[in-house]
Amino acid sequence: MLFSDFGSKFRDGTGIGELMRDLADLPESGNFYRLGGGNPANLAAVNTKFQQLAQHSIADTAEFERAFTRYGAAQGDKQLIQYLVNYLNQLYNWQLEPHNIALTNGSQNAFFMLFNLFGGLRDGVQRNVLLPMAPEYIGYEDVAIGAPMFSANKPVIELVGDKQFKYRLDTHALNIDDSIAAICVSRPTNPTGNVLTDNEMAALDSLARSNDLPLIIDNAYGAPFPDIIHVPATLNWNTNTILSMSFSKIGLPGIRTGIVVAQPEIIDTITQMNAVINLSTGSAASSLFSGLFKNGQIDQLISDSIKPFYAERAQWALKMFEEQFADLPARVHVPEGSIFLWVWFPELPISSAELYNRLKKKGVIVVPGHYFFPGIDNDWPHKHQCIRINIAGNSDELQQGMNLIAEEIKAL
Ligand SMILES: Cc1ncc(COP(=O)(O)O)c(C=O)c1O
Repeated sequence: MLFSDFGSKFRDGTGIGELMRDLADLPESGNFYRLGGGNPANLAAVNTKFQQLAQHSIADTAEFERAFTRYGAAQGDKQLIQYLVNYLNQLYNWQLEPHNIALTNGSQNAFFMLFNLFGGLRDGVQRNVLLPMAPEYIGYEDVAIGAPMFSANKPVIELVGDKQFKYRLDTHALNIDDSIAAICVSRPTNPTGNVLTDNEMAALDSLARSNDLPLIIDNAYGAPFPDIIHVPATLNWNTNTILSMSFSKIGLPGIRTGIVVAQPEIIDTITQMNAVINLSTGSAASSLFSGLFKNGQIDQLISDSIKPFYAERAQWALKMFEEQFADLPARVHVPEGSIFLWVWFPELPISSAELYNRLKKKGVIVVPGHYFFPGIDNDWPHKHQCIRINIAGNSDELQQGMNLIAEEIKAL
């Protein structure tokens, strides 16, 4: 079979494809330690609320007919968009209108559209999306329809105590030229759990504006939902910002819904792309999410269940890491947000890809770090010295899995 260049990319395997395969193929039983993938926590109180909302969407005949039996608008379900407009305006006074929001089938879907909207060929010249501080989210790497489209900058690595470190934005290294078409950061960052400071965000905002480039902020773990942030951080939006949000990490990755907040020109274009690629965004999911915005239920869910769970879990995982790796050359990124620990082995004698394979043989599934550096040269040793561990799952699996990782590192 002869595939196009675009098709061949998927046949060669991708980082995100490997991650999703590990997630889907692992048997439910057996000695496995599922520390890979990006599944959020399975929280009983949260699930009960979602079940009630789903039951309402199905039992209410008018709502069922509206949301299940017709195609929704290509921009996304109008009812949910209106709820989001009201909610975000009340919280942040951004003065949004419905034409500032589009819904997509998951925010991954939004990134495919956004990156190809700006990156790629323009006037015969290849344009790139700048990731100002790699490591960055694994799901960006392979979205380009044409040639690879990421330029990235290395961070400044600041050591914190004996066992931690923090990445800082290297503002002096940020070079913008004609090849850059947009700037993108995830905040909190997947995989590191870093939260770029307000000052770092202000620097990126002014760099973007002064160069007339959109600043894309991937807020999949940020405020106001799921709000998995353990340090103070302000969320800003202006007409030069493209804010991407997601309902996945509040606990519903199965019903794919992403949100893009941007100026109308961009929303109109995403609407057209949605029509071509998806016809519309699933309005059955939007019906359930609309229910969350009635009577402040979303805020209650976040403050009573989601935020406290992740804050406590991050502290517990950090303590466990510091105990289990006490005598080993290992450091963890300060866990400021998201659902991961990002572990760095500065003296690792093999690559993180090889470490991933060795751990997999022991039943421990992690994500090797090299996939999170799109646009960074392969010869930077740090790129091959890190792994990502999901801390949202079963606590026994996490504890035993980390123990097995420590054993392997000790042996190495
Ligand atoms: C930083 C980040 N952005 C985007 C996504 C895509 O999420 P979804 O398509 O479920 O909204 C993820 C998923 O893990 C993520 O971690």
